[in-house]
Amino acid sequence: MIREVQYGPAVASVYDSLIAPAMPAGDAIARLRPHLVGARALEVGVGTGRVAVPAAAVAAELVGVDNSGPMLDEFRAKGVPANVRLVRADFREPLPLDGRFDAAYSTMGSIACVASRDELVTALSHVRDVLVPGAPLLFEYYATAAYRPLVELGSVTVPTPHHGGSSTFTITLDGADLLTMHTRVDAAPLPTVEFSERVLLIERAEVENCLLRAGFLVEQFWPAEGMQPYDWYLTRNGGK
Ligand SMILES: C[S@@+](CC[C@H](N)C(=O)[O-])C[C@H]1O[C@@H](n2cnc3c(N)ncnc32)[C@H](O)[C@@H]1O
Repeated sequence: MIREVQYGPAVASVYDSLIAPAMPAGDAIARLRPHLVGARALEVGVGTGRVAVPAAAVAAELVGVDNSGPMLDEFRAKGVPANVRLVRADFREPLPLDGRFDAAYSTMGSIACVASRDELVTALSHVRDVLVPGAPLLFEYYATAAYRPLVELGSVTVPTPHHGGSSTFTITLDGADLLTMHTRVDAAPLPTVEFSERVLLIERAEVENCLLRAGFLVEQFWPAEGMQPYDWYLTRNGGK
């Protein structure tokens, strides 16, 4: 069954030029490095390889999973490191991967692209199923401290970082805690690009509850600092 894919051609076309430059991968790599050195690693929601490329320089082997054909195509067009394999798959379904991984990670809230707490537990369980016992899963999750004020504002227009023009974010939160962020990028003379993302915005205690339900042990939490949009979690496969 092919399920709905959030990241289509519009967002893929501007991801590396307009979105990735605002989020340099250095901080994520510093956080991930101790867990990736020499490891067989998995990235969940690998996208265009913003983090996977520097991560692959540290890991022995890296498998990147994503359900978006356009995002994976952008990554392939740039050239994929020799120790990286890309798999088009949806983490809401069992992952079609051979063997187990020493470590997994997921950046920029990819794992929050779910429709409910139960679906988050299902997605996390699929990741846990392919990890060796005790292996770490590190991930960034949307910080409520950053996003709830944006919901109050409704719409924000900011200069597009490292580029001319502006980006307008229109953010809503529904009764099921689904945050929809509509982005409109105006960077003339390029055509205007619009796309939407929908993620589950829940508090830390609820994320940790979903992790426990999926069989993870929560080891460490780093709250988003300043204007950063994501919290970090370090968890471990608590199963066999
Ligand atoms: C914000 S991007 C992050 C990409 C990359 N990890 C980075 O840090 O630049 C989120 C990624 O998660 C992927 N994604 C969203 N839902 C997914 C799902 N159900 N299964 C697999 N990948 C998914 C999207 O296609 C997209 O590439």
